[in-house]
Amino acid sequence: MRLDKFISSQRPDLSRSAVKELCRKGRITVNGETVKDPGKAIDENNDKVCAAGEPVTYREHIYIMLNKPAGVICATKDRLTETVLELIPPELRRSGLFPAGRLDKDTEGFVLITDDGELAHKMLSPKSHVPKTYLVRLEKPLSAGTVPLFAQGMTIDGGEQCMPAELTPSPDPCECSLVLHEGKFHQVKRMFAAAGNKVVYLKRVRIGALNLDEKLPPGGCLEILHKDVEKLLAR
Ligand code: URA
Repeated sequence: MRLDKFISSQRPDLSRSAVKELCRKGRITVNGETVKDPGKAIDENNDKVCAAGEPVTYREHIYIMLNKPAGVICATKDRLTETVLELIPPELRRSGLFPAGRLDKDTEGFVLITDDGELAHKMLSPKSHVPKTYLVRLEKPLSAGTVPLFAQGMTIDGGEQCMPAELTPSPDPCECSLVLHEGKFHQVKRMFAAAGNKVVYLKRVRIGALNLDEKLPPGGCLEILHKDVEKLLAR
């Protein structure tokens, strides 16, 4: 791959012309040697490239954990409403990013943003049953019958059949956590509505075996390390 293409594909804050300028100033090295030609061919898997003193590591794909705030939509673009992609900081931006899965506009929490269509497909495919954990706040205290109702797999409005879901009550009777193994439209809200209650606050806190980082503020992003990516698919 060309050196300038490689650097700007991995460092969206460095355009091809910015890389050219850094080359001219002698601030790009390949395996420790200064390179002045931005068109030099490099081996992206083995060569050690530094731009302005910072190593540029090759990642074919990027995986971003976003703590989605309420009021933002899971779409790539929208004329009127802020989208999750607008929350990605410049150093993590690259072409082809999209939210893998949707949360409602008023739902908060873990959204995966990636450019890896294959992983997103595996995570979202109805057959994969990757568990997703939600914190739920309800209008009325949880009734005793709701736990077994969700556990046996309930029918929601329109006759849709849900898979068994694990509901765990909290010390606060209006709060609980819910693990779903599928992702029907507005599923959590519709399940509680069918059980005679109403969701007043919803936050996704875990996908597969990966928890939303507790230190991540609403609107905050962090890159998921490669060793953790597989956890997104863990059942
Ligand atoms: N279920 C819902 O009802 N809303 C969400 O945003 C996610 C799951």
